[in-house]
Amino acid sequence: MIHVEVYRYNPAVDTEPRMEMYEVEDSFRQRMVLDVLEHLKERDPGIAYRRSCREGVCGSDGMNINGQNALACVAPVSEVLAGIWVAQKSNYGSGSPLVGKKAAERLVIRPLTGMPVIRDLVVDQTLFFDQYRHIKPWLINDDPPPTAERLQSPEERARLDGLYECILCGCCTSGCPSWWWNPDKYLGPAVLLQAQRFLIDSRDTATADRLTALDDQFSVFRCRDIQNCTTVCPKGLNPMKAISDIRRRLLQEGT
Ligand code: FES
Repeated sequence: MIHVEVYRYNPAVDTEPRMEMYEVEDSFRQRMVLDVLEHLKERDPGIAYRRSCREGVCGSDGMNINGQNALACVAPVSEVLAGIWVAQKSNYGSGSPLVGKKAAERLVIRPLTGMPVIRDLVVDQTLFFDQYRHIKPWLINDDPPPTAERLQSPEERARLDGLYECILCGCCTSGCPSWWWNPDKYLGPAVLLQAQRFLIDSRDTATADRLTALDDQFSVFRCRDIQNCTTVCPKGLNPMKAISDIRRRLLQEGT
């Protein structure tokens, strides 16, 4: 049997959070963490969590699994329990201290860190999406529209690789200590990755205004190179690099 602990807190009836203990059959080692939750929900319909696509695309089931933020639907139970899954998908490779970490005996599932809990594994992401809106995540171009689409060269298009794939699950931002300390001022890795996506898009003409909006002590420069963001990104992206690129550009072109 696999021991599973799930964070439970319903502010309507609970005075404080607790960890609820369950057991599931050993065969769940071959499944994903979301499958375990779906199974537990059949036994205990009160467990609250978000999920939709079950394919690592919608970004709704970000949660903290054995101490690591991840998407439950693409987190294999066997790898979580063996403690190898983080190192496998991180950029740190075989030299990571996470490689060969002692196998965990339990599956411990908590809500995303650093965000207020609404209920059980559901967190309030209002601030996260307010910050996303703040960087104007759409193409700005006041030039007269062409008869067909605005074209890019293959090289210009290639610059968006590693940026456009972000699904806004919030795993990176929720795992960032700098964001925990200044969530109202520091934009966090996910939003800054998106900011970089529009800053380098050849079709966008608002680059100067976008840089000006980021040019202060906190929005970008509160990043302390901790790199939790890059370690946890379920899509294998590198928010740390995007932040570094913005900082370099602000130092060259900003005030
Ligand atoms: Fe959509 Fe996991 S359910 S990303």
